[in-house]
Amino acid sequence: MLLPQAKDSKVNANLSNKMALGKSIKMYLTIFVATTCIYMVLYQYHMSRQPLATNEVVKHPEKSSSSSSSSSYIASYLWAPMLNNSSTSINLTMGQGLVQVHGPNATDSSSSSSASNLVSASGSSFYSTVSLPLTLSSASDANNKSISTTTTTSTTTTTTTTAATVANAALSTTTTAQKLKTTTQPGHAHNTIGKAMGAVHKIRSTFVAVSEPPPLYIITPTYRRPEQLAELTRLGYTLKHVPNLLWLVIEDANKTNPLVAHTLDRIGVPYEYLVAPMPEQYKLTKRAKPRGVSNRNRGLDYLRANATEGVLYFADDDNTYDVNIFEQMRYTKKVSMWPVGLVTKTGVSSPIIREGKLDGYYDGWIGGRKYPVDMAGFAVSVKFLHERPYAKMPFKPGYEEDGFLRSLAPLQNNEIELLADECREILTWHTQTKKNPAALPFNQTRYGNTNLAFIEKLLVRP
Ligand code: UGA
Ligand code: MN
Repeated sequence: MLLPQAKDSKVNANLSNKMALGKSIKMYLTIFVATTCIYMVLYQYHMSRQPLATNEVVKHPEKSSSSSSSSSYIASYLWAPMLNNSSTSINLTMGQGLVQVHGPNATDSSSSSSASNLVSASGSSFYSTVSLPLTLSSASDANNKSISTTTTTSTTTTTTTTAATVANAALSTTTTAQKLKTTTQPGHAHNTIGKAMGAVHKIRSTFVAVSEPPPLYIITPTYRRPEQLAELTRLGYTLKHVPNLLWLVIEDANKTNPLVAHTLDRIGVPYEYLVAPMPEQYKLTKRAKPRGVSNRNRGLDYLRANATEGVLYFADDDNTYDVNIFEQMRYTKKVSMWPVGLVTKTGVSSPIIREGKLDGYYDGWIGGRKYPVDMAGFAVSVKFLHERPYAKMPFKPGYEEDGFLRSLAPLQNNEIELLADECREILTWHTQTKKNPAALPFNQTRYGNTNLAFIEKLLVRP
């Protein structure tokens, strides 16, 4: 029989045992919770290092109207037409896309803005995956860094995209720029573009085309007026998004204007600046003038003398262009067409497509034209131009486009490629700028010793 004290102490011992057990359970629980928390924090951190959006590329669907599969590929990594109930479905979830990266593309306008510096991708493109170092993925580095490889096709590691890619969202489109080729001209190693669309859902490797896309020749007529530099600046920075392009800026004048040259230099798109005055007989007329015709014909002469392949496009200096159209027109085999907004009372000028075929034109003014299209609504292959040595634009107001396209005969309707999602999308607009009066003469006595003396010299006076 136990004494009461002994009984007491046994009860005490039991109690303290239980308390100790409770304490250690509490401790284990605390450790467990703390460890779980640490794991969760680490996991969160790990996840945050994963790109939210990798470079996904949307490949344009094969066009039913395109005849060959090789030409129907459109390297339109920025291209994402409006999704509607159209029969053309866009595969937004494709596993691997194609991103084009081009090599040296001269931005040094004075020394290298000639057709010969544009690389022509006549053969089939070679695609490989290319690693994007972390440093190259940041937007600020995009234009200056380069990956040096000695051949055009040697880099073949898998793309690793990181959280830095997300930083690119700061750009209007997600842009990872890199240089895949540095050639014997290191001085030109500053213009590199590999663009990728960032409408993206999960991590996947990205293919990169190492070869150059076919060159684009953009013929822009321009003329002296107060708005001239503003128009050229706006167009120039649009063109700056387009790789392997030569901008032929041709002024309706007898001599070049240093202010225009200065503006073109500042923009940094490869260019040629030429002059082609409108013939006197048209200048003096009271009736409508054939605007920009001598300029465009000068551009055609330039291409006949200097270009062998690629595509030409007449881009008036005052219009609006979505850069997607440039990637689409680049692969034109003969002639391509698409809608142009803000043309006539119909609000748009466009080929009419019925059952997948070109079936006439929609435009507020047909005027007996075979091709009632706007200047901004078609592109022509340079090879095709070479096959039509007499093709040119007539000095006939209102009939410039029609006359030029007719001069490309023979051209079958089914040879006209229909771009911009088979003419269901508007990517170019015939915008017109309000005319501004000429600036007042500068008051030298009053402002001669101020900054105004400098900016006064930047004004284009008619
Ligand atoms: C429209 C078309 O878009 C032009 O392609 C076409 O040449 C013109 O009509 C026409 O039928 O005459 P629109 O906007 O009315 O163009 O004309 P502008 O934009 O004033 O001129 C077209 C292009 O020619 C511009 O790039 C402009 O800079 C140039 N231009 C204009 C000259 O080179 N010289 C001029 O005297 C006027
Ligand atoms: Mn215009």
